[in-house]
Amino acid sequence: MCGIVGYFGKKEASDILVDGLRRMEYRGYDSAGVACLHDEQIAVVKRPGKIKALRQQVDQTDSSILRSAKQGIGHTRWATHGSPTELNAHPHLDATGHVAMVHNGIIENYREIRNGLKQAGIEFVSETDSEVLVQLIAYCFKGNLEEAVSEALSKVKGTYGILVMSSKDTGKMVAARCGSPIVIGLGVDETVVASDAAAIMPHTRDVIYLEDFDLAVIDGSGVNMLDIQHTPVNREVTLMDWEAEEAEKGDFDHFMVKEIFEQPTAIKNAIRGRLDFEMGSAILSGLDLSQRDAALINRVLVVGCGTSMHAGMVGEYAFEELAAIPAEVEQAAEFRYRNPIISPSDLVLAISQSGETADTLAAVREAKNKGAMVAGICNVVGSTIARETGRGVYLHAGPEIGVASTKAFTCQVAVLLMMALKLARTRRLPVYDGEELARWIERIPALTEQVLGQSEAIRDVAKKISAQEHAFFIGRGYLFPVALEGALKLKEISYVHAEGYHAAELKHGPIALLEEGTPVVALLNNVPGKDKTLANAEECKARGAHVIAVVSEGDEQAAEGFDDVIVVPQAPAMIAPIPTVVALQLLSYHIAVLRGCDVDQPRNLAKSVTVE
Ligand code: AGP
Repeated sequence: MCGIVGYFGKKEASDILVDGLRRMEYRGYDSAGVACLHDEQIAVVKRPGKIKALRQQVDQTDSSILRSAKQGIGHTRWATHGSPTELNAHPHLDATGHVAMVHNGIIENYREIRNGLKQAGIEFVSETDSEVLVQLIAYCFKGNLEEAVSEALSKVKGTYGILVMSSKDTGKMVAARCGSPIVIGLGVDETVVASDAAAIMPHTRDVIYLEDFDLAVIDGSGVNMLDIQHTPVNREVTLMDWEAEEAEKGDFDHFMVKEIFEQPTAIKNAIRGRLDFEMGSAILSGLDLSQRDAALINRVLVVGCGTSMHAGMVGEYAFEELAAIPAEVEQAAEFRYRNPIISPSDLVLAISQSGETADTLAAVREAKNKGAMVAGICNVVGSTIARETGRGVYLHAGPEIGVASTKAFTCQVAVLLMMALKLARTRRLPVYDGEELARWIERIPALTEQVLGQSEAIRDVAKKISAQEHAFFIGRGYLFPVALEGALKLKEISYVHAEGYHAAELKHGPIALLEEGTPVVALLNNVPGKDKTLANAEECKARGAHVIAVVSEGDEQAAEGFDDVIVVPQAPAMIAPIPTVVALQLLSYHIAVLRGCDVDQPRNLAKSVTVE
């Protein structure tokens, strides 16, 4: 939910910190700040608003400490406790000003600790739980920073990813994690620490991922990896598979539209080397699942949130239709707390682009605790969910910076189709049918490319409805999750109150909301169920709705009598979600731009929800 960054090296720290925060701004953008340590003094600059405001403030601040410091910490915030003000912004200092800290996570017992510290005479200036932690660290400080951090962390409940410095124990910084990710980049004579790889990529690709209850002491000699009891731990150095320029907008106006147009390439990367045409199956070595294990799976449970959950819903249909395996999809937080009935023959699939979503991670831990086989479908290599599931399939979609998920969804669906194909071939799917599906999956990038070519036509449709404050998306079968996803895209980037419904459901109540001109996007692809959805679209039209018909190429007559049409390539039902969702991504993008919205950093949102 927040982004933290730290630098320890030989260059001017403040520039590196602000640039690192800019690269992680999608993690939260309510307020931001940096703290630099030089000559046993700490300078802090922090501002409400986006990184741009911080950059201006840093440039205007005449501070020799800020200009000379070769170490520092920074933070960009998504507010959990306390409104986005300068006082609540990080970095936080303790009351004496000698300890500076940035924090991502939630300290659940912060009130109890704050009351105890207040009784000891300590005064607080902010409303945040994070300030309680830095005050506690200072309260425990007896000269050694890492010892103070360990002692303080032993008293807290909750989640944290922190970076701490002290002007009374200089030449080092301390990082610690429990539940909120921390990546340490090992550069040449420099160390960069951050919540995620985006801030580290310009400096090095050699990284260490901290595990829960790790504590790292970073100093001139490098990184000393310990656990919270100061026992040395061994963490492997891995090579990041992303390049720095992948996390830049390039010539695009927004990250979101760049990532929409990257989808043919991203999907190619997701399927590369994974289709076995000869066996009519899929090769997913990361699943670490023998054919025998695969044949013994009795049920697939998919957990995820938001867009990832919608992708899982497409997978649910494919697992049942192709492999005849019972499949269920559940919102991860609901799964975690409802005491699910799990058996050892269940495969629990955790879908998460970031691999850090707290609700999905908690669901993974619950499934493991009940003895299920778990696997992850993640995009970020080395992410917590990827590591804690221990097996799974990476999307290889490249960094997804736009808060609204696009290429992750299409790559997740492609991976789920390959998983369903693999499981189906251990059951009753004949090799020729398997090969035919593999060929269709191979065609998906080209189908997606075709839809991207419709962008201007879709923008013309967007112009007609961009002033509307309500919208509906309807679909059935494999296209029902696509209706939900299309509504989510429009909601989160244009602030239009959009709802996705199963096409048959509208007449059971929601149709009462239709007024003259209310946009209804009807997914009328030429797949089984089209005629039923067509009837539902007619019911909407008869009540004055502005119906936008999404139809298959060659079946344009299905749009007759409706207000607008978007044509997508003809494809089988289980392939259709991917090209169709691209059309809806473009529709939402153009509407948001026409409404003057902040497409990449929509209000109230953050890219990775690492708190429950
Ligand atoms: C999608 O556009 C949203 N940004 C959000 O619903 C997202 O899909 C959800 O928070 C899950 O994130 P994850 O895939 O990183 O777990």
